[in-house]
Amino acid sequence: MKKMRFALAAGTGLLLLIINSCGSGPESSAVEPKIILTPAPSANVRINGAKIFGVRPGSPFLFKIPATGKKPLKYEVLNLPEGLACNPETGMITGTLNSSGKFMTTVRVTNELGKAEREFSIVCGDDLALTPHMGWNSWYVWENHVTDRIMRDAADAMVSSGMIDHGYMYVNIDDCWSVKPGSADSTLMGEERDKNGMINANGRFPDMKALTDYIHSKGLKAGIYTSPGVLTCGGYAAAYGNEEKDVARYVEWGYDFLKYDWCSYSKIGRTDLLSDLQKPYILISELLKKQNRDIVLNLCQYGMGDVWKWGRKIGGQSWRTAGDLGGSFEGIGKALFRDGFDVYSSDSLHLYAGPGGWNDPDYLLLGYLSNWKGETVPTPLTPNEQYTHVSLWSIVAAPLIFSGDIARMDDFTLSLLTNDEIIDVDQDPLGKPGYRVSRDGDLEVWKRDLEDGSIAVGLFNRGETETEVTALWSDLGISGKQKLRDLWRQLDLGSFDGKYSASVGRHGTVMLRMWPEK
Ligand code: GAL
Repeated sequence: MKKMRFALAAGTGLLLLIINSCGSGPESSAVEPKIILTPAPSANVRINGAKIFGVRPGSPFLFKIPATGKKPLKYEVLNLPEGLACNPETGMITGTLNSSGKFMTTVRVTNELGKAEREFSIVCGDDLALTPHMGWNSWYVWENHVTDRIMRDAADAMVSSGMIDHGYMYVNIDDCWSVKPGSADSTLMGEERDKNGMINANGRFPDMKALTDYIHSKGLKAGIYTSPGVLTCGGYAAAYGNEEKDVARYVEWGYDFLKYDWCSYSKIGRTDLLSDLQKPYILISELLKKQNRDIVLNLCQYGMGDVWKWGRKIGGQSWRTAGDLGGSFEGIGKALFRDGFDVYSSDSLHLYAGPGGWNDPDYLLLGYLSNWKGETVPTPLTPNEQYTHVSLWSIVAAPLIFSGDIARMDDFTLSLLTNDEIIDVDQDPLGKPGYRVSRDGDLEVWKRDLEDGSIAVGLFNRGETETEVTALWSDLGISGKQKLRDLWRQLDLGSFDGKYSASVGRHGTVMLRMWPEK
């Protein structure tokens, strides 16, 4: 059956590249080849990533236009509001907007083969993160070994891999950049704060400002992490009692994103009191709002107190909806279905997220990850599970933050991260997260409404054998003939009425987009 499906795809004229089988996952994955479905990038220009971007009045603006196509590319933005300028060679839009408003611009990117144009809205106001964040985070591959060099290499790799041209933007340090009290490691020792009470970075980060300057020089944004307690989860100096100074420090250093954890705050606040759960996040978000710099706030308190119901109200731009997806390396596959599918459905999380505030089921655990035993090894997810991971995250409008080794990706991993039609679903400007419309044992159908009136549909098979999954129009809330496209393969499937069925592999996914036929 599986073979038949590959043959079918190959028969359509699509080039399928079969790489060596993974071999590291559960038994059944040993026979599951890594098949690249994402077509190779075209030489023609395509403008990718977010179509809408939020900024606060008076904050420095930085947005690099993501576009693919044969280089060199020339970038232009028509109707750019006063205060902003676009560099035609780099595609970086920079400057400052002083007054609120929605500015409709047209981005035009040209190369020797032609040009592409697309609308790009800049919304100057209170809201940031009008689409889910896209980027990279150091935690799952580098955990407590992260350094300045690693972060610079990550920024370089974001550019050299082309991820930046598909909309990836944030390069985020996780835990372990501050001093670790009591550590015997000379690179982690030292004064936690300077004489003015400003937090110090540890010896692995000799110059934070130079680091963010480097990241920004590539058109990327920089992220940092801390906890509201005395110590971070890893036992490093954190923010408790110094929140105002720490926020000032992040601004001085030039950070654009803050992940605010929980951990040792349990010694200060009670987890069974909503007011205690909210208090540190209210404090930090109020401080962040006062700055002349846009710092996106990611709440990382594992979903306690149904954070999705209040995360946005108290000023968060995203909130973790569950514990660590990769807390147990061997358990990532199980966690994907539990924290991804089940938490999301049982709590109807789609009702709470949208432009400016997103559910965050944790990072994309693809490529090489730490196994928490001192080694960096391939993800235990099978190839099908990896497709399921990225597909589900896009359907539910989750941040696409890759946390494997960005400097060591194979073509398969890169193809999972850079399928522009999948990314278009994640970044859809309507910002309406998808949800499950039907479940029949192990088979699930999910749907997401998109801005142009089409819908994205995920056919998921959580079972152990390849099975046919059917999407019924009645479940999807649509009627009449629909034009269907397979999003991973970027291939039109034709016109269908009433239902669509596809064979879906073990733990796998078929991602579709459906437009009503006129
Ligand atoms: C956890 C958090 C992880 C990572 C880790 C660092 O609490 O969920 O994503 O940040 O702390 O110690």
